Amino acid sequence: MTKQPIKNICLLLMLCGFLLGLAACTDSTEYAEVNNETGRWYSTAQINEGNILFQQFCAVCHGDQAQGLAEDWRVRDSEGNLPPPPLNGTAHAWHHPLAVLDQVIAEGGALYEGNMPGFSGQLDKEERHAVIAYFQSLWNDEIYQNWLRINDQQN
Ligand code: HEC
Repeated sequence: MTKQPIKNICLLLMLCGFLLGLAACTDSTEYAEVNNETGRWYSTAQINEGNILFQQFCAVCHGDQAQGLAEDWRVRDSEGNLPPPPLNGTAHAWHHPLAVLDQVIAEGGALYEGNMPGFSGQLDKEERHAVIAYFQSLWNDEIYQNWLRINDQQN
């Protein structure tokens, strides 16, 4: 009789562990998969979709080639705000693993006292990933490999 609750708790803990494991895996398996067309985690269809969304939602601040529009993305303005940085691999977006990039796009700069608006209302996760695929397609292989390593460390 007294053993039954303990057994139930054990089962519950195992189930939680399993679900947490699944949740932690979704983003890490996505970036780890290698697509035949690109040799990276995303397909050319994702790049194309992401390009359209990027022009619609992001280019106004980040530039139509994700090149950034400010002269120097590291220099804050008179109010102490950072300009929208390039996302084409020349700034530091590659320091962020996939889950963090996704979170910045969904929730915006409020995460780190920045100015960028969040897009969770306009872009679902699949669309946010397509946008990431688009700007990552502008990264050279060295930057992309460095980014993969950062993902491995964080997952
Ligand atoms: C209104 C201007 C604006 C728009 C529109 C905008 N951003 Fe930003 N973004 C910023 C600013 C400013 C920053 C710098 C950090 C901050 O202040 O939030 C930033 C930072 C980022 C970063 C972090 C880069 C890094 O190196 O840490 C990513 C990723 C990003 N933006 C992606 C996007 C994507 C994708 C879109 C379109 C869905 C988008 N942004 C639309 C202004 C914008």
